[in-house]
Amino acid sequence: MTTILGLSGSLRQASFNAGLLRAAAAASPMANVVIGSIHDVPLYNADDEAAHGIPPAVQALKSSLLAADGLLLVTPEYNNGIPGVFKNAIDWMSRPANEIPRHFGGKPVALLGASPGGFGTVLSQNDWLPVLRTLGTRHWSAGRMLVARAGTVFDHDGNLTDEATLARLGDFMAGFAEFIES
Ligand SMILES: Cc1cc2nc3c(=O)[nH]c(=O)nc-3n(C[C@H](O)[C@H](O)[C@H](O)COP(=O)(O)O)c2cc1C
Repeated sequence: MTTILGLSGSLRQASFNAGLLRAAAAASPMANVVIGSIHDVPLYNADDEAAHGIPPAVQALKSSLLAADGLLLVTPEYNNGIPGVFKNAIDWMSRPANEIPRHFGGKPVALLGASPGGFGTVLSQNDWLPVLRTLGTRHWSAGRMLVARAGTVFDHDGNLTDEATLARLGDFMAGFAEFIES
């Protein structure tokens, strides 16, 4: 079965994006979505890397990525761009640079995200594109999953409850799984 590593770019307990990732995993009978965590990833510091190498939390994410057929990035949007904690995690995962082709090269990647505003993370999803190109991934651009007005479709614990959004999510995940297998 196809395996997808899913990462949410929020550390918030009742995060809409973490909830969107849980819902994506539940809506993907055609794939095994493994939910990774960026919670223990430290701030990138080249001195720490030189002294101690890759931190265990990053090594675990890199191993999960290597074992996965695809990568799902569930991105919040901060100030019309990628939240720093999420970019920091991917930056760490891109170290050392000579391992980028093995981990990211040709890897199918899909972007989705949720925000309380009206545009559903469209700008942060766009902000990821040069990063994905730099890492040499195979970005899936056919599907779009922008969850706007998140306060109306998630409950207080960050669980996605809206049937129409869940149906859209199921179609999105099916499309991404097909892309991975193509
Ligand atoms: C520093 C900061 C900047 C934000 N900027 C945006 C923004 O540009 N666009 C947007 O849609 N939401 C923005 N928001 C609101 C977030 O979308 C909202 O906090 C959302 O709940 C974050 O995702 P999460 O629920 O997964 O943590 C911002 C929030 C913060 C804290």
